[in-house]
Amino acid sequence: MSNTFVDRFNRPLHDLRVSVTDRCNFRCVYCMPKEVFNSDYKFLPRKELLTFEEIIRVVDAFAKMGVSKVRLTGGEPLLRNDLELLIEKIQQVQGISDISLTTNASLLTPKRAERLKSAGLKRVNISLDALDDETFMRVNDVGISVQTVLDGIHAASEAGFDAVKVNMVVKKGLNDHSILPMAEFFRGTGQILRFIEFMDVGNSNAWNLDHVTTTAEIADTINAKFPIEPVEANYKGEVAKRWRYTDGSGEIGIISSVSQPFCGDCSRARLSALGSVYTCLFASQGHDLRDLLRAGVSDDVLDARVREIWSGREDRYSETRSQVVTLKPKVEMSYIGG
Ligand code: GTP
Ligand code: 5AD
Ligand code: SF4
Ligand code: SF4
Repeated sequence: MSNTFVDRFNRPLHDLRVSVTDRCNFRCVYCMPKEVFNSDYKFLPRKELLTFEEIIRVVDAFAKMGVSKVRLTGGEPLLRNDLELLIEKIQQVQGISDISLTTNASLLTPKRAERLKSAGLKRVNISLDALDDETFMRVNDVGISVQTVLDGIHAASEAGFDAVKVNMVVKKGLNDHSILPMAEFFRGTGQILRFIEFMDVGNSNAWNLDHVTTTAEIADTINAKFPIEPVEANYKGEVAKRWRYTDGSGEIGIISSVSQPFCGDCSRARLSALGSVYTCLFASQGHDLRDLLRAGVSDDVLDARVREIWSGREDRYSETRSQVVTLKPKVEMSYIGG
């Protein structure tokens, strides 16, 4: 069907981020702080989650509207049993050419990485926020060591994915001293390190502009030691701005959602584990599809609903955050997968 299908700001639909669980074995202070995500927190009951068959029906409907890229997220997506089966099924959906995963890599053993690769997973993004255990454990707050994640990164590289990227969220005062050590460590490895500005997602992470290290600050810090120059985006709407080391030792990315928003080209929809479609990472409410699926509607009805959701879309939160006072609670990052 139409590839030129657009929302109210003329933005096409290309990517679908699918959250397969709202649970995570980390408690990153900027995402799932322990004070909120503790034993009293009500995670989604497992039977409420979309089944793989239901997810496939939704992916199929989105593929007909122009989606070719699917990213699996969580919480921590590797906590979902048999994720490989879901990947195999997504690969069979007509129109889907790219399947990727965003993970904390704590469960990414060499065997798991190979199974994911054989199932059809193309690319993996792995979160790592520091290279020293003291800082990293302060971030993940569950005592996971840096080596555990480095082992996961190694497993992903050995499995032969098309790309392995490393995501570092930079929170001022928490891990900004790790910018240079991280840059130095990943230079020349072929793994692309991306620095992410700390964002005001959800309602729990006590976000404050004073804790944001901006793209300009990050780029200046790196450039002073390892000269870099900007590179053209790979495609319109790419989330990370690219730079390359002038000495040829690879490239880095910076995701500047706060200081230089990129809503104008945003072509991403998000599906929660519960079956709601969110048209922005900062949305307060989703559009439920699970009731439709469980009522046994036809593909035509489902397709029409997806079309209606995207064509009504007006979100551009990052571009308006300084003007908008949001009174409604935003969806949590761990619920929608970033
Ligand atoms: P690639 O396909 O490798 O470019 O993946 P990605 O960078 O889109 O996905 P990933 O899950 O690695 O996300 C990296 C960071 O970008 C996370 O902090 C996400 O929350 C953020 N991000 C991804 N998409 C959007 C978006 O549409 N808006 C905003 N504000 N942030 C986004
Ligand atoms: N700001 C920016 N990035 C975040 N992530 C989680 N919470 C935040 C936040 N508040 C990142 C994770 C992961 C990706 C999905 O989103 O570290 O790499
Ligand atoms: Fe888990 Fe990722 Fe959130 Fe950390 S950022 S708590 S690893 S979902
Ligand atoms: Fe897209 Fe919302 Fe992010 Fe803007 S803030 S880029 S509209 S998800």
